[in-house]
Amino acid sequence: MSIIVDEEALVFQLDAKDVSYLLRIHKYGVPIHLYHGKRLKCACPEKIFEDYMKPYTPCYREGDPDFSLETAPQEYPLYGVTDYRPEALQLTLADGVSSFELQYKSHKVFAGKPVIKGLPATFCNDEEAQTLAVLLQSPDNEQVWVELFYTVFEKYNVITRSAKISNVGNAPFTIHGAASMAIDFPGNGYDTINLGGAYGKERWPDRMTLHTGERRVSSTTGASSHVESPFLMLCDHDATETAGNVYGFNLVYSGNHECVAHVGAAGDTRVLLGINPANFSWLLEPGEDFYTPEAVLVYSDQGIGQMSRTFHDFYRQHLSRSLHAQKVRPVLINNWEATYFDFDHDKIVSIAKKAAEVGVELFVLDDGWFGKRNFDNCSLGDWYVNETKLPGGLRVLANKINDMGMDFGIWVEPEMVSPDSDLYREHPDWCLHTGTGKRYQSRDQLVLDLSRTEVQDYIINAMATVFSSASVAYVKWDMNRPMTNVGSKALAPERQKEVAHRYMLGLYRVMDVLTDRFPDILFEGCAGGGGRFDAGMLHYMPQFWASDDTDAWERCKIQYGTSYVFPPICSGNHVSAVPNHQTQRITPLHTRGNVALSGAFGFELDLTALSKEELTEIKRQVCLYKKIRGLVLDGDFYRIHNPFTENICGWQIVSKDKTEVVAILTQKLFIPNSRNTYFKFQGLDPKGLYQEIETGNNYYGDELMYMGIQNIKLMKDFDSCIFHLRMLPIES
Ligand code: DGJ
Repeated sequence: MSIIVDEEALVFQLDAKDVSYLLRIHKYGVPIHLYHGKRLKCACPEKIFEDYMKPYTPCYREGDPDFSLETAPQEYPLYGVTDYRPEALQLTLADGVSSFELQYKSHKVFAGKPVIKGLPATFCNDEEAQTLAVLLQSPDNEQVWVELFYTVFEKYNVITRSAKISNVGNAPFTIHGAASMAIDFPGNGYDTINLGGAYGKERWPDRMTLHTGERRVSSTTGASSHVESPFLMLCDHDATETAGNVYGFNLVYSGNHECVAHVGAAGDTRVLLGINPANFSWLLEPGEDFYTPEAVLVYSDQGIGQMSRTFHDFYRQHLSRSLHAQKVRPVLINNWEATYFDFDHDKIVSIAKKAAEVGVELFVLDDGWFGKRNFDNCSLGDWYVNETKLPGGLRVLANKINDMGMDFGIWVEPEMVSPDSDLYREHPDWCLHTGTGKRYQSRDQLVLDLSRTEVQDYIINAMATVFSSASVAYVKWDMNRPMTNVGSKALAPERQKEVAHRYMLGLYRVMDVLTDRFPDILFEGCAGGGGRFDAGMLHYMPQFWASDDTDAWERCKIQYGTSYVFPPICSGNHVSAVPNHQTQRITPLHTRGNVALSGAFGFELDLTALSKEELTEIKRQVCLYKKIRGLVLDGDFYRIHNPFTENICGWQIVSKDKTEVVAILTQKLFIPNSRNTYFKFQGLDPKGLYQEIETGNNYYGDELMYMGIQNIKLMKDFDSCIFHLRMLPIES
């Protein structure tokens, strides 16, 4: 049993693999947070939390000066009822009342997970998890019900949380903010790490010490964004990759989000995660429910690396619905940086031929194949083939590619419309816009209003037509601008602040329908690079283009940061040309390959322009990837050298049975007369004898881990090397 309930004391103990989470219903009906951390043996302690009053805090009940919510650690806190810290739920009732209490009404425990209607979420069967649902109600008016869900996964150090707000009264009320979860941690001795960045430098880990006030990570761009991922980590000040208490929080959502760590007057730390309350509201009619996105909580007592490996294991098995999630990925080539918009059938075929020769398995035709799109200022929405470029349409090209022994894939950007398009001319009100009709453009395009069912249906039909028009085995689903004028012509004035979230619900519906109708297609998400690389998207698409920045050293940083939460296989990585199109930097071809290998591997350059030697190197990379891609799919990932603080970046992937390991080391600048680099492995069998496949050198696991491989020669700027070792069979 993962959930133990003391029915009398109303104490709930949730036990995942090595983690316990305890909460209790206080005598006034408030859910109190007791503990989250290393697994406890004791079941249902009756009284861990003592009421105590601090000066200058109002009391929750007259005559009881010892209890104020300002100092009580809570599970779903509210404003206006003696707590001054950030609240989980903000509502205005029909009579204007916005301050109310929530009190325990009932609870239930059931096998499996609750349904989170309309939203992506992790999944499991009834044997793999158990859920505690705690129902709270507003005692004064009995109109607001809030159900808190806690799902415990027995095999992982994972608990997921979400909330359902229900209107059980006779009048509508307005939600201004509804967090997916809240926890009050004791004390404030924590650092936070979030994944920040911008276009071209997505998901850089950013660590800082918590002080009074708050660390707030959020997005208002309409997407989870390049800038601040929906992820926040709390850890001991001295936590490292291999040691310390670490709490990771990740939201399964792709829209505007907010993750907060707040230190209040009593010096305790409140963590809140959910939809961003800024510019959000939701009118809930009687009888309706509002579901918050799911938050995934991971605990590690062995440092940040262990937290990441837990996220990886869990997401690999329980996040993506795609049939491809559990499969190795094909080596692909994408024509974008090779041709941009300047291609025709013959040019594509010539690149494809070379790709087939070096062992590539999938050819992806990127932007520019439809409407009259020879530049990025037109035709989004006109999803019919430009037959001047591709005579005979996609089928002819796809067949040609298939004849070469490769699968065919296609790029689309269905959520957008160009003002210069037939679609826009026909439906000028189908894009997001506010009352005045004002529409700000970005990349000469507007965002379709996916809160509207007819727009969702149009996208579903247009895409289904494209996907059925040829043998499409892969789709790159792009989205290339932040949202502005977030309003909808189809909604009443009082519902305009619902649009950003309704957009996400619409997008998720579109994805549900399309991925269901085309289960064999491998979908890869993209948003101007990695601007929507999040667990919500990964529910539908098992991989995401990590960044438009394919410079090998920049990619070390991006992939290093991405691996905090997401398994390497989720990250689309391509070898591109030099000078790099984003940084103008020149890095060696073998390094571009080595860095890209740990993920969904591919190429994005004109193979017809490469020399014989370069093509031989590319062939080597393709062969190597095919050998290690099983490992890349489900091995354990270890970050060993940090490219943000060191002159080298190093990581490794170890098979679950520890018999195979690949380590990749990349140097930034060559420093003359510098000390040799040692690479110390992690996670091997200390007694196992490992053989390096290329050299035949043998090493014991303990030697590799404690002494390290020595004399690594990284002889120039951006040099790199790769070690691939297998454990030799034990002689009997
Ligand atoms: C942005 C993507 O990140 C690129 O890879 C490419 O697909 C372009 N869009 C095409 O417009």
